[in-house]
Amino acid sequence: MRRWAQTSVVLMVLVGWVGLIVACGQSEPAASPAADQASQVSGPRTGQQIFAATCAACHGADGKGAENWMVRDEDGRLPPPPLNGEGHTWHHSDGVLYGIVSEGGAGIGFGSNMPGFKEELTREEIVAVLEYVKTWWEGKAIDGFPIAESQRELSEADPYPIDEG
Ligand code: HEC
Repeated sequence: MRRWAQTSVVLMVLVGWVGLIVACGQSEPAASPAADQASQVSGPRTGQQIFAATCAACHGADGKGAENWMVRDEDGRLPPPPLNGEGHTWHHSDGVLYGIVSEGGAGIGFGSNMPGFKEELTREEIVAVLEYVKTWWEGKAIDGFPIAESQRELSEADPYPIDEG
């Protein structure tokens, strides 16, 4: 009797597992490829996708910037700085960062090889790519100073420009 009870418990567990495996096997091929395709084909690009396509060539895929980013080139201009929190980009408010990406370095008043992207990227795309850059600052501190929080405080007084479109 005890043995019979044990066997039936084992059987029930087995049947449960098989049922689960069958259920998983059935639902997967039907649901996921369509969902994947939808997210790739339509809908706005993510900040990460925009960064990879538009910024990484100069600032590096991981936002590390050029090796000697503090040393001016022969043309007197600065190489692409790190955007990952190692440099000083987090000293800028959202409003200033938006201006740099939209107008370019020259657009905000200094000789610079940072291009402006206002023809190429929408306001939403510029905000998305900057929000992606800012994810690198989360949890980072310089001499115990939390850079993401500091940048947020700075941006309260100077946020992204209001959407006029
Ligand atoms: C053609 C190369 C190039 C591309 C592409 C480029 N940048 Fe830059 N970027 C630079 C250079 C060079 C500088 C430094 C400008 C200076 O200080 O004169 C810079 C500076 C910046 C700064 C200011 C950094 C600071 O610490 O003051 C930000 C922010 C920035 N870039 C963001 C971006 C984003 C976001 C993209 C993509 C949408 C992008 N850049 C694409 C070359 C580039």
